[in-house]
Order: sequence, then structure tokens, then C-alpha cells
Amino acid sequence: MASAREAAEAPAPHPIVEAAARGILPAWAEVTLERRGHIVRVVTLLNAWARAAGVALAERTRWLAAGWLHDALRDAPADRLRPWLPEPRTDWPPQLLHGPAAAGRLGAEGVRDEELLTAVAYHTLGHEGFGTLGKALYAADFLEPGRRFRSRWRAELRRRMPAEIERVTEEILAARLVNLIERRSTIHRETLAFWNAMVRHGRP
Ligand SMILES: [Fe+2]
Ligand SMILES: [Fe+2]
Repeated sequence: MASAREAAEAPAPHPIVEAAARGILPAWAEVTLERRGHIVRVVTLLNAWARAAGVALAERTRWLAAGWLHDALRDAPADRLRPWLPEPRTDWPPQLLHGPAAAGRLGAEGVRDEELLTAVAYHTLGHEGFGTLGKALYAADFLEPGRRFRSRWRAELRRRMPAEIERVTEEILAARLVNLIERRSTIHRETLAFWNAMVRHGRP
């Protein structure tokens, strides 16, 4: 019989989440070899940060699964992604669909971990509801060392992780907003809401 302490611990992860944390993607994943390299680098960062932050094993399993699953549909054509979107989002360009589609597909298969689903769905845009998992995935996706821009700045941000996760996430988000503004791009409402939530959260 489980002790009271064991009973209070997190429930067992969904089998898809448990497998993903071990690097086994669902059969429906569509990932090129190159993309797999990116995913492995993201997962490597998440694993290092989770260990450095001393998060519990069950929590680390969720971080690793989010890392593996975030781009599970990144190389699928848009017409295979649209049926899995939770709501029709006509303002989302094709390159943003893979997150919500992966989350939709995971939900359809019984994954009920809302924090993980939100992290996967909005890893491109950010989301005001991000907890630590969502911020860690957002940061790891941006900071993984295989990307070829602003290498020194990103290495410095990696060095500050995970201790300064709030500040680092905010700096990444600010840089992305500045980039969008300089290009006179529109800004998705999720990204603006993420910024507002970050700065409100960081206020004394
Ligand atoms: Fe992605
Ligand atoms: Fe990614």
C-alpha cells in the first residue's frame, strides 16, 4: 500500500509523455534528421537546467518530454496540421502551426497535462500562462547552440540559466519583440500577452 507521501506525489505520466522523455517520439511525428539534431540540443539544455535547478524526477520527465515533443510535427505539411488545431486560427502562418497541432494531437491521445500542452503549443509565440516549464522550453528553443545568430549573446544567456530563468526569458522575449518591431511585423496577441505577464510578474 502506498504511503501518504507517495500518494501525494505526481500521477504517473501518460505513456506518450513517458516515452518522449526517453527520446521515443510518437509514430505520427514528422521530423527530419536535421530537426532531430535541434530537438536533441534543446532536450540537452532542458536536462542540464532541470538537474542544476534540482527539480524532482517527475518534473524533469515533463521537461524532457516537452523538449522532444515541441517540434514533433515541425516537418509536416500544413494540410496535415490544420485538422489538429484546437481552434481555427486564420492569422497563423504555416510555420506556427506545428506547436498547436502537436498539442492538439497529444490531447486527442489522452495527454491531460495542461502546462505541458501549453508549453508545446506556444513554444514559438510564448503564452501568458507559461509556468517554469513553458519558459524553460521557450528559452531552450532559442538558446540551443546550433542556431547561428548572436552566438556570444546567446552563450551568455545560457550561462545564466537556470538560475535567472525569469530575467533570461524576459530578455529573449524583448529581443524578439524588438526584432518584430524593426521589421514592422505584426505581433501576435499571445506574444504581447506573454510580455505583459512577464513584466507584471517581475514587478516588486
Ligand atoms: Fe518549433
Ligand atoms: Fe524548436
